[in-house]
Amino acid sequence: MPTDPRPPTTLRPPNLEPVKAPHEDLPTDHTLVLKVIPMPSDANANGDIFGGWVMAQVDLAGSVLPARYAQGRMATVAVNQFIFRQPVRVGDILSLVAKMERIGRTSMTVSVGVYAERIRTQGRYIKVTEAQLTYVAIDDDGRPREVPVRELPVQDTM
Ligand SMILES: CC(C)(COP(=O)(O)OP(=O)(O)OC[C@H]1O[C@@H](n2cnc3c(N)ncnc32)[C@H](O)[C@@H]1OP(=O)(O)O)[C@@H](O)C(=O)NCCC(=O)NCCS
Repeated sequence: MPTDPRPPTTLRPPNLEPVKAPHEDLPTDHTLVLKVIPMPSDANANGDIFGGWVMAQVDLAGSVLPARYAQGRMATVAVNQFIFRQPVRVGDILSLVAKMERIGRTSMTVSVGVYAERIRTQGRYIKVTEAQLTYVAIDDDGRPREVPVRELPVQDTM
């Protein structure tokens, strides 16, 4: 019986190769809500960053602006859209920006963009992820409650 000539599958070390992707400006109508740097422990078996780790950061970042309107407990009710446009690499500086899209009776929808500064191209941003999430203001029993703040006096941008 012939033996398989391929080497056994192994975990890859962190992938530090530059990604060929266009640079973009950070959107001026969004608010910078989080900066974070993924570590080797956040990588998947390919050596890139695990998508679930990115999703967790986006969920946290997406909650920042709705929290100002909810003024209390909230829950994520839906991830309406989530697109991984480019891989995220160990050591990237990620900037997560957000924009309120809609305030309903009890729910709020927000857009989140994730931009990476690669380890060797600081100051140049690549859009790696875009998402839209909906949060619901909830009461002490976990039931939806009305969003109490309809307008903010100042909307901070970058
Ligand atoms: C969030 C939760 C309290 C909503 O309860 P519910 O009984 O489904 O609430 P309702 O049907 O009255 O909907 C509440 C709001 O959410 C919106 N909503 C419900 N499902 C939605 C969906 N799939 N997509 C977008 N919005 C949705 C409704 O349109 C409504 O918004 P509005 O009041 O602004 O019009 C409940 O679904 C829940 O506890 N989910 C689990 C949350 C969770 O564990 N998240 C992960 C960790 S934070």
